[in-house]
Amino acid sequence: MFAPSVYIGRRKRLRNDIGSGLILFLGNEQSPINYPDNQYPFRQDSTFLYFFGLDCPGLAAIIDADQGIECVFGDDLTVDDIIWTGPQPPLQEKCQKAGVSETAALDQLQLVLDRAVAQDRQIHLLPQYRPENILKIQQLLAIHPAVIQDHVSESLVQAVVAQRSIKSDDEIAQIEAALDMSYEMQTTAMTMSKPGIYERQVAAAMEQIVLSRAGRLSFPTIFSIHGETLHNHYHGNIMNAGDIAVNDSGAQTQLGYASDITRTIPVSGRFSQRQKEIYAIVLDAQNKAIEAAKPGVEFRNVHRLASEVLISGLKDLGLVKGDVAEAVQAGVHTLFFQCGLGHMMGLDVHDMEGLGEDYVGYTDTIRRNPEFGWRSLRLGKALEPGFVITVEPGLYFIGELIDRWKAEQKNAEYVNYDAVEKYRDFGGIRIEDDVLITEEGSRMLGKPIPRTIEEVEAMSS
Ligand code: GLY
Repeated sequence: MFAPSVYIGRRKRLRNDIGSGLILFLGNEQSPINYPDNQYPFRQDSTFLYFFGLDCPGLAAIIDADQGIECVFGDDLTVDDIIWTGPQPPLQEKCQKAGVSETAALDQLQLVLDRAVAQDRQIHLLPQYRPENILKIQQLLAIHPAVIQDHVSESLVQAVVAQRSIKSDDEIAQIEAALDMSYEMQTTAMTMSKPGIYERQVAAAMEQIVLSRAGRLSFPTIFSIHGETLHNHYHGNIMNAGDIAVNDSGAQTQLGYASDITRTIPVSGRFSQRQKEIYAIVLDAQNKAIEAAKPGVEFRNVHRLASEVLISGLKDLGLVKGDVAEAVQAGVHTLFFQCGLGHMMGLDVHDMEGLGEDYVGYTDTIRRNPEFGWRSLRLGKALEPGFVITVEPGLYFIGELIDRWKAEQKNAEYVNYDAVEKYRDFGGIRIEDDVLITEEGSRMLGKPIPRTIEEVEAMSS
């Protein structure tokens, strides 16, 4: 955990921002996989971690914004529990590390909330994404699961997003510790990826790296020679000479901070000429996007810039034609770049997505564009110093999408379908780094991971 003063300071700011009422936080529970006692690895809710740092199941907390009272609710283990789990420090002792002096048994939470409801006090709730917690809200506050969203406190969501969006030096150090693991994961994947090796062998080696460093994966690894499938979690292919493998993977530290890095690896150690050409376009888009990412710049404009660089490169290769800016305005890039350029990152890989992506990435005036491609852009608003974002352009040749556009002759004035057809088996290339927005511009976080064609080939040979 960080020092108690960190959690005390975060809660104090939240209390001041909210002003009045009770703020309710629900920690996460153990979650069963296929029968009750066989559970997924426990992951605490990130907002709970942010304000209380306590990484164990069965907890809830209240901040009384009027009276300044903070209380964590939970039950100490019984001997029957300890037989299975081993001993744990008492809740009171754990809470001291978070600077919380008041604790109570879990069943006291209902009484506190009943009293607040009887006094007509406002109870500030966050959106809930775990079924267990949705049911807890139903029980504690008699709010039907279907309408919980109507009871979410917008002021609380906005206050949490405002605070979690700006990373402190301690948090950046954590992200860089996760990136140290990413460095090992990515370079290991580059050296291991050879003809005859299964994707799953590389995925397993990367998981071994994080487990052996007391970390864990920050999201299920995407490691695939079918990198055109954006979230491809299948690892069953054998890699062959000439293939390229997209490695989109990340680690999380013991405090829960994430990394999220993508490299594209030539399985035979060398990119073909055609792969080099597409790789160079994606790299150019990433470099220009990172250069453009500065305080005050709207990330949707950085996404547009990257899309224009991608289309300009494809125009040079003869896949598209016409005016580049007009082509992007018409959405031509979404045939090849169907997702967003990046997202916030921190305690969550898609930071705070559970609170509502539009609160995190958009504002009342900068709204999500509902068009295909654009609607997958998770971050559109102006960048601020302290944001940590991913910058992850890519080019993806998806046969089914090409077929659909071609059948519709969609954007035919800009797309050379005969040329595109020759790339339908190309796969995909993505390059992703984690970037801190600074007062002056931006800084790529972590130890540099081979990224240029020459660097990737040198590491892969
Ligand atoms: N790196 C995986 C994702 O952003 O969804």
